[in-house]
Amino acid sequence: MSRRAEGARRTAALLAAALALAACDEPAPPRHERPASSGPTTRGTGASATPPGSATPSATATPRPATATPEGPRTASGTASGAASAEPEPLGPGALELRNRGKLVRRLDMAALVAAVKPEEWSAYDAYYQRQKTFRALELGALLAVGFAGEGLDLRREQFVLRARDGFTVPIAGEKLLEGGAYVAIADVDVPGWEPIGPQRANPGPFYLVWRKPGQQDLESYPRPWQLATIEVASFEDTFPLTVPKGEPEGSAALAGFAIFREQCIRCHAINQQGGRIGPDLNVPRSIVDYRPVDQIKAYIRDPRTFRYSNMPSHPALTEADLDGLVAYFRAMSTRQHDPARP
Ligand code: HEC
Repeated sequence: MSRRAEGARRTAALLAAALALAACDEPAPPRHERPASSGPTTRGTGASATPPGSATPSATATPRPATATPEGPRTASGTASGAASAEPEPLGPGALELRNRGKLVRRLDMAALVAAVKPEEWSAYDAYYQRQKTFRALELGALLAVGFAGEGLDLRREQFVLRARDGFTVPIAGEKLLEGGAYVAIADVDVPGWEPIGPQRANPGPFYLVWRKPGQQDLESYPRPWQLATIEVASFEDTFPLTVPKGEPEGSAALAGFAIFREQCIRCHAINQQGGRIGPDLNVPRSIVDYRPVDQIKAYIRDPRTFRYSNMPSHPALTEADLDGLVAYFRAMSTRQHDPARP
């Protein structure tokens, strides 16, 4: 309350400064900090906390509890990230980009961010670390108010796409992002320089999206991209049009599978080069259903670690019908292949 009021006041006071500092139209310099091969941060699959892993299996060999699944925030490979990805990948290491449907609105570095939003220090359970952590963090609502000031947006009604440096890419509703409890952590108070996170033992900084409330620990519903690079206002359909199984009938298994894919998988996997790039594209150049038996696909999705020391989270909560839906979706997409890399 008073915090909110205070935040609003600060926002107003600092807006001019932030605007001056941050407004920019030039495209961000491309920075791929990691080789494509390097880790996807895996993010937990909902059920429990799973560390978002990075792509590299190395350190990860750490067994996780069955429930824990890492998911990483990562986007599709290279071009993969969606229609808008014609743009160079954003961000330098120390800046957060705010975009409105592809257009760069602001790039805020740490100094601009802490000048605009007062950092708070608090402790809460962290679903990736699986214990209490203390962070210095910026309340997301205040940050977005500054970041998108002047755009004339009703942020709660918008759809967002969050992109991490490693390719983790999460579509999320503004309503959820702004329900209260979301913060951008800017420092790990327990471990200066950040405690490594996820199977890849990635450094989650400089910006790690966290949720503070006890009811916000499910990684599917409350995704935690680390190395957050870009917060974009963009609808799912505009950003990932080639992942939509157009023409499939209402109520079909393919549409049910698409809903699951959109919620739990696109953050790491692309279809037709649109989506996350922590894991492989599952439709091009060959559809997964063309080279893997259905039973194996289903078993893999449910528990990848029975096959490999994987960076993909397990999905124990998916039912047989859910898995059939996913397979139906992959089948539907296999007849809708579109690969920008092989015109
Ligand atoms: C945190 C990131 C992440 C999430 C979330 C994720 N995956 Fe994966 N997935 C991977 C990675 C990385 C691989 C590559 C191999 C590995 O590490 O297991 C992979 C591999 C796969 C494969 C095997 C590809 C092959 O041919 O070997 C399938 C199928 C798959 N994922 C499906 C899914 C489905 C369906 C979902 C959602 C229910 C999902 N994945 C969620 C990261 C993820």
